[in-house]
Amino acid sequence: MILTVAHTKGGVGKTTISIQLATYLKAIKKVDKLLLIDGDPQRSTLDAISERNSNDKYPPINCAQYLTGKELVGQLKSQRDTWQQIIIDIGARDNNALRAALMYSDALLIPVQPRGFDLQALRDLHIVMDDAWSLDAHFKAFAFLSMADSQGSSNAESQEYLSNYEDITFLDAPIVRRKAFASTSLAGISVFEESPKDPKACKEMENLVSQLYS
Ligand SMILES: Nc1ncnc2c1ncn2[C@@H]1O[C@H](COP(=O)(O)OP(=O)(O)OP(=O)(O)O)[C@@H](O)[C@H]1O
Ligand SMILES: [Mg+2]
Repeated sequence: MILTVAHTKGGVGKTTISIQLATYLKAIKKVDKLLLIDGDPQRSTLDAISERNSNDKYPPINCAQYLTGKELVGQLKSQRDTWQQIIIDIGARDNNALRAALMYSDALLIPVQPRGFDLQALRDLHIVMDDAWSLDAHFKAFAFLSMADSQGSSNAESQEYLSNYEDITFLDAPIVRRKAFASTSLAGISVFEESPKDPKACKEMENLVSQLYS
C-alpha cells in the first residue's frame, strides 16, 4: 500500500505521524519491506531516520528523499512492487510532488488539528484531492485528529465539522498532544521503542494503525 500523509497546512503533525506509522510498522508489525519517503525539502523525516539508523538498538528503516513530482513519479513507478508498504511525508504546499503522490497513492492520511482555522484549511487540500480524483486517482482519504486535546469538546466538534466531507473517512483515533510523540519522532523511533513507554501514546498509535490498515 502507498500511503501519503499530507495537508496543505503547515505544522499539523504530518512528519510526526509519518515517522510514528513507519516505526510502528517496522518495530511492532515487523514489516520488512517498508519505505519511508521524505517529500519535503525541510528533510525532518530523513534526519530523524538517519538518527535512528545510526543506533544499532533499532531495526533500520529505508528512507529516501524525493522532492520533485517528476522524481517521485519515476521512483514510485519503479519501486512500488519492491515494497510492501510505502509511506510518503509530503511538505505543506500545493505542488507537483503532492499532486504526483496522490496520483499513485492507495490512501491519503490527513492530520487535522481540532481548531477552527485548521479545519477551514481543509478546503484548500480538498481542491487538490478533487483535481486528483478527476484525473482518475484511486486513493481513499482518511482524516484523524492530530495534537488533539485529552479532554473537552473540541474533538467532538471537529468530528462533526469533518463529517461535512463525505469523501473523507473520519478515523476515530485521536493522537493527543503528548511529549512522547514529539521526542520519539525527533529521534526517529516509535513511542513503543521508548523506555519507559508512554502507555497512552502507545494505545493511541495502536488504535490509529488498526483503523488505517484494517
Ligand atoms: N501528537 C503530538 N504531540 C506533541 N507534539 C506534537 C504532536 N504532533 C506534532 N507535534 C509537534 O508539533 C510540531 C509540528 O509537527 P510536525 O513537524 O510533525 O508537523 P508537519 O505537519 O510535518 O509540519 P511541516 O508542515 O512544517 O512539515 C513539531 O514540533 C512536533 O514535535
Ligand atoms: Mg513535516
